[in-house]
Amino acid sequence: MSKPLRKVVFPVAGLGTRFLPATKVVAKEMLPVLDKPLIQYAVDEAVDAGADTLVFVTNRYKHAIADYFDKAYELEAKLQEKGKDELLALVQGTLPRNVRAIFVTQPEALGLGHAVLCAKPVVGDEPFGVILPDDLIWNQGKGALGQMAELAQGQGAGGVIAVEEVPQTDTDKYGIVDATPIDPRSAQIRHMVEKPKPSEAPSNLAVVGRYVLPGRIFELLEKTTPGAGGEIQLTDAIDALLKEQGKVLAYRFEGTRFDCGNKAGLVRATMHMALQDPKLAPVVRELLAGL
Ligand code: G1P
Repeated sequence: MSKPLRKVVFPVAGLGTRFLPATKVVAKEMLPVLDKPLIQYAVDEAVDAGADTLVFVTNRYKHAIADYFDKAYELEAKLQEKGKDELLALVQGTLPRNVRAIFVTQPEALGLGHAVLCAKPVVGDEPFGVILPDDLIWNQGKGALGQMAELAQGQGAGGVIAVEEVPQTDTDKYGIVDATPIDPRSAQIRHMVEKPKPSEAPSNLAVVGRYVLPGRIFELLEKTTPGAGGEIQLTDAIDALLKEQGKVLAYRFEGTRFDCGNKAGLVRATMHMALQDPKLAPVVRELLAGL
């Protein structure tokens, strides 16, 4: 991949049923880990990777995400008037000035592959990133997508997919790759399969929510028929890409991933972030010691 990564797609049209009743009105991507919503962690990671165009694939229930990244005139004026500069910077900093947000609609929930395909008119024929905001990846240094973009450029790879090992019993929750190791962090993918039964999985190396993909994937998605769960799967289109052009890499990112698509993961992420905060860490430690 020769061009730098400028566009990142965020599929955010899911219903978030695991967090009902809160998600009856709150988009699951707006659930906070401490004081930042999940979508903000994802956007920060995309911007860190060099993106200047963020494409949100959304639906009619997710207006809060557009509102969140919009200018809040009244609030900003009030904070300015009161000299609350730090708060003002937080409110204005949700989206850097040089970055634009574009919203496209996914009219029907036909799967992750279909959601990504909805971004085709905005992305066109250039490499792009995909971040699934449910997977919060924390790293002290460069973010996971930034690491992947660097690898894609350095290796001239057609695509890079983030992976991590999961228990063999969990393979039916993930896309699973069959890959030949290149070095401790990267591997050449041979084959990918969406949510295989543990007895049929080619490995326990699971896809997590970060992808660097070429524009060609859109044409392959257009031809992809419903797969696992009756949905149009991104995994199946990437598998077709592999058959066309060999070099799609699996990458074990540097960082810790929290699956915030479920309650346990959201609790873990919150505890982890609280322990990074000098004011909150003693409170959490005291609470845990008391238990
Ligand atoms: C999606 C992908 C799957 C991937 C997972 C990572 O599944 O289809 O390949 O492993 O995200 O979070 P979902 O969690 O949307 O069912």
